[in-house]
Amino acid sequence: MKETALLASIFLGVLPYTLAFPSPVSQGHVSRDMSPRPRALPDAPNGYAPVHVTCPATRPRLRSASTLSPEEISWLDTRRSQTVPALKDFFGHVEIDDFDAVSYLERHSNNSASLPNIGIAISGGGFRAMLNGAGAIKAFDNRTEGATAKGQLGGLLQSATYVAALSGGSWMLASVVINNFTTIAALQEDVWDLSSPNIFYGPASMEPADYWGNITAQVKAKKAAGFVTSDADIWGRMEGYYFFNASHGGVDLTWSSIAKTKNFQHGEMPLPLVVVDGQYFNLSGEEPTLREPVYEFSPWEFGTYDDSIHGFAPLEYLGTRFVDGVVPENETCVRGYDNAGFITGTSSDIWNENNGYDIAATLRGVISELSTNTTEGTEAVQMYSAVLKEFLSAVSSNSSVVNGPAAYDPNPFYQYNKDSSPFAQDTRLTVVDGGEDEQNIPLEPLIQRKRNVDVIFAVDSSVQPYWPNGTSLISTYERVLAGLANDTSFPSIPDAKTFVNLGLNSQPTFFGCNSSNLTTPAPLVVYLPNHPVTYMSNVSQEVTSYNTSRRDAMIINGYNIATQANGTLDADWTTCVGCAILSRSFDRTDTTVPEACSQCFQHYCWNGTIDNRTPSAYDPNVLLPSSA
Ligand SMILES: *[C@@H]1O[C@H](CO)[C@@H](O)[C@H](O)[C@H]1NC(C)=O
Ligand SMILES: *[C@@H]1O[C@H](CO)[C@@H](O)[C@H](O)[C@H]1NC(C)=O
Ligand SMILES: *[C@@H]1O[C@H](CO)[C@@H](O)[C@H](O)[C@H]1NC(C)=O
Ligand SMILES: *[C@@H]1O[C@H](CO)[C@@H](O)[C@H](O)[C@H]1NC(C)=O
Ligand SMILES: *[C@@H]1O[C@H](CO)[C@@H](O)[C@H](O)[C@H]1NC(C)=O
Ligand SMILES: *[C@@H]1O[C@H](CO)[C@@H](O)[C@H](O)[C@H]1NC(C)=O
Ligand SMILES: *[C@@H]1O[C@H](CO)[C@@H](O)[C@H](O)[C@H]1NC(C)=O
Ligand SMILES: *[C@@H]1O[C@H](CO)[C@@H](O)[C@H](O)[C@H]1NC(C)=O
Ligand SMILES: *[C@@H]1O[C@H](CO)[C@@H](O)[C@H](O)[C@H]1NC(C)=O
Ligand SMILES: *[C@@H]1O[C@H](CO)[C@@H](O)[C@H](O)[C@H]1NC(C)=O
Ligand SMILES: *[C@@H]1O[C@H](CO)[C@@H](O)[C@H](O)[C@H]1NC(C)=O
Ligand SMILES: *[C@@H]1O[C@H](CO)[C@@H](O)[C@H](O)[C@H]1NC(C)=O
Repeated sequence: MKETALLASIFLGVLPYTLAFPSPVSQGHVSRDMSPRPRALPDAPNGYAPVHVTCPATRPRLRSASTLSPEEISWLDTRRSQTVPALKDFFGHVEIDDFDAVSYLERHSNNSASLPNIGIAISGGGFRAMLNGAGAIKAFDNRTEGATAKGQLGGLLQSATYVAALSGGSWMLASVVINNFTTIAALQEDVWDLSSPNIFYGPASMEPADYWGNITAQVKAKKAAGFVTSDADIWGRMEGYYFFNASHGGVDLTWSSIAKTKNFQHGEMPLPLVVVDGQYFNLSGEEPTLREPVYEFSPWEFGTYDDSIHGFAPLEYLGTRFVDGVVPENETCVRGYDNAGFITGTSSDIWNENNGYDIAATLRGVISELSTNTTEGTEAVQMYSAVLKEFLSAVSSNSSVVNGPAAYDPNPFYQYNKDSSPFAQDTRLTVVDGGEDEQNIPLEPLIQRKRNVDVIFAVDSSVQPYWPNGTSLISTYERVLAGLANDTSFPSIPDAKTFVNLGLNSQPTFFGCNSSNLTTPAPLVVYLPNHPVTYMSNVSQEVTSYNTSRRDAMIINGYNIATQANGTLDADWTTCVGCAILSRSFDRTDTTVPEACSQCFQHYCWNGTIDNRTPSAYDPNVLLPSSA
């Protein structure tokens, strides 16, 4: 989508005006401690290079998407044993007048299917989305200082079953999950250093020459192992250096290793899901439409519930040559392909857009800017010229690969579901940024009826330099209406003009409150649009440099959106969140909706009104300037 006109124009555009180029040979630099520390497991056998291994006795195979995976079904039981006490804790400080939510939960705890099932969705939008999403997660996390006081929502994260993210949102999610389900406060403390002038320079703690030397060496190793490499590999490695508190940018951390960590196995975190979009190979350079598949990465699998492919591949063995869902007898298995940065790099891979703005072109731009400017020094030019050369030898030579979508080669879905899948004859699967189909909130995984999600907290940081206006919800609604997504349902969503005219995007809004108005059960959506409570948080995606105070102002604004300024904007807000969580459960247990909740729904639910006159521009000011 055009909102992602972003990173590409980004780097070219920004460099010359704002940045002093740090000399690559500056002296006396002390790099950050690179000793091993707690995080997801270094599970890749050989760093970034995938490795051919003997297949396990039970050879990995694809599975049909007609059910949830057996792993998920069994994990959900474990997670449920954690979310029930967490919900009780949550309703210990989130109160509903004249209703005892804690005893309600106790009364129904013998039938877990009647209890609330919560999903959280964090949109894309570059660093803006990462930071705004982080503010919401910080507000929902009971480990955040002060977050379990009255007026606060701490514990919602602990009560949630799923957290889905895409693109910039996936940077936040991966930062939390890969670093041993850490807190946002800890990331602010010692991981998220966004102070370098540009992401193309690398983190402030590293010399650009080391950053690029490492990245290109890593990607070259994958290529040398016989795998196709593209922009997404480079981009994912760049992200690794920013988001993973591990040596060499977490080069050996895999997404599938999450499933092998203790706190995940004990159900101590929600299920992290990352969304990417499919793209027809012959349309390289085009943005996907709502027709292309929407894929998800769980810690166990990569695949889609959509009708076309309707299958999942075991993530740990991504990179293996599957044929019609099985590994032929004469083939070996591959491990180490699912590098965690490669997953987020794919989810944020907008480099197929805006033809000509691939990473190589961006590096050429950097060099040409630098070389017109003698004050920056020829050393910098030489360094980046060397980087470009290395870059070109690290990525596979086919220009449609370098300049195109992320290449998953071999295509795990080769020959799979031949009758319905337009991808069955492709040896390479091409995938791109999860928001390119305009569904910039990762809702697809959460609206699968099989998952029975009751309520989705949808954090939307779409679109700059404007503010979100519901477009991403509308896209998901349209996709469901068009029958493009198998076995999903979604509540009615009005047009963008109505969003603006009724102010549905200038404060939280609930959709699908009245389940009797739905033909099939669908989640209630709590829409949390980015809006300026204490900070003008519509920062351009082209900005990849934040000093600490600006970074934190973004996070606090996200926190203030989620908590409505700790109740300052509405003292009943946390009650209303509690009501949204319990709403579907009330239906299932035939419980009369408490009066306090009815008032909340009156206030926050979109009631079906349409006002599609052309709105005047939505141009908000900071609501609480004095609190900033
Ligand atoms: C080039 O030099 C000018 C003046 O010294 C400076 O303002 C500008 O940022 C520099 N451009 C680059 C690409 O470094
Ligand atoms: C991960 O965090 C948990 C606390 O949530 C802690 O008990 C555990 O020791 C940490 N794991 C590692 C490897 O440090
Ligand atoms: C947060 O919630 C979890 C799950 O209910 C609980 O085990 C933990 O003690 C809580 N932590 C805090 C700081 O409240
Ligand atoms: C749960 O307990 C209630 C009574 O407290 C009972 O009516 C209901 O049948 C029980 N449900 C299950 C699934 O055991
Ligand atoms: C990052 O690593 C340092 C050094 O090992 C450690 O002290 C810190 O707890 C880690 N932080 C996070 C958020 O993982
Ligand atoms: C990778 O970075 C480290 C410093 O973090 C540096 O010592 C090393 O030389 C770099 N490797 C390459 C191939 O540039
Ligand atoms: C396995 O056999 C198929 C079909 O004969 C062939 O295309 C493929 O290259 C073989 N793979 C290996 C690793 O030899
Ligand atoms: C979903 O896919 C299954 C086949 O796997 C098919 O039977 C079913 O009709 C599809 N459902 C929808 C809603 O398209
Ligand atoms: C809503 O935002 C989109 C960008 O995502 C923009 O193209 C459209 O004009 C906006 N519509 C309204 C009514 O504001
Ligand atoms: C709400 O609480 C958070 C966390 O303590 C704080 O950072 C923020 O400034 C508060 N918001 C307002 C509007 O005071
Ligand atoms: C529905 O919402 C509109 C605008 O948000 C409001 O004007 C109208 O009174 C509401 N209708 C009902 C029946 O509450
Ligand atoms: C109720 O359902 C109808 C038909 O799908 C729809 O047009 C209307 O917008 C829905 N109302 C609400 C409040 O969702």
